[in-house]
Amino acid sequence: MIAELLTWLTTDCAPQARKLGYLYEAVAMQARIKRCAQAWKSHCEQAQTFATNCMHRQEKGGIAVVFGSGLGVDLPKAALLEQFDEVWLVDMVHLRSTKKAWGYHHKVRFIEHDVTGTLNDVVKGSLTTIQPQQWLDNADIRFVFSANILGQLPVQPLAWLANQVTTHDDEQLILWSRGLLQAHLTYLHAFKKCGAVVCLIADLEWQYHENNKLLQSIDAWRGLEHATPDASWEWRIAPRGELHGNRTQTNWVGGWCW
Ligand SMILES: C[S@@+](CC[C@H](N)C(=O)[O-])C[C@H]1O[C@@H](n2cnc3c(N)ncnc32)[C@H](O)[C@@H]1O
Repeated sequence: MIAELLTWLTTDCAPQARKLGYLYEAVAMQARIKRCAQAWKSHCEQAQTFATNCMHRQEKGGIAVVFGSGLGVDLPKAALLEQFDEVWLVDMVHLRSTKKAWGYHHKVRFIEHDVTGTLNDVVKGSLTTIQPQQWLDNADIRFVFSANILGQLPVQPLAWLANQVTTHDDEQLILWSRGLLQAHLTYLHAFKKCGAVVCLIADLEWQYHENNKLLQSIDAWRGLEHATPDASWEWRIAPRGELHGNRTQTNWVGGWCW
């Protein structure tokens, strides 16, 4: 607990990362990884294998950009470093331990950046949708990996808005959330049009069980249509003991390679 608090206090990050809870979540996830290593193993391996196979459709060299690089547990680090000249890791927050895990490699660039471009408006209580354009003009970008970020995009903003601003009704929030996801997908497609290979790994469904009975299943795409994934697998993200009572959470995850 004290180590986690110290990390939270001393991590250098943008004010939005602290304010909207991204830093808190990164610190909590770091502790969770240690507790759930066995339950997460299969997800991490499958995600890494899927991304590796996808990146090998591209020639060697150039830049790989990873959106939602987080703690890096589902990223094939060695394969990325082997395949590309530079690896740009984009997230709201990178912990010191994450930087260390990448070995301070000369090819790696840590970029703290809001991939939606909307969070400055969110903290003013305003729901805007912005179509990201960042780096689309960089012809050296050969591989773009959206690493389990899609379904997460509205999560922190919605939690923050629920505590701070009461003027938005549910319908507005649902439409705005869907807009965030759609803008990210359009962004990925734009990289594809520019010649990059794109790997999308994204949650499909969040399932909550109690005593092995399905309680609730939530569509992580918030009603947006999507093509059948090229692969899908289970992520036992919260095995028994992680949630209250006998509850567990399993995410169904999909992988698409364009
Ligand atoms: C489920 S985690 C991804 C796990 C990560 N791929 C890994 O290997 O550890 C989702 C990540 O998306 C990041 N994220 C969510 N919204 C973001 C935003 N608007 N801009 C940048 N990063 C964001 C979070 O900080 C978090 O690290």
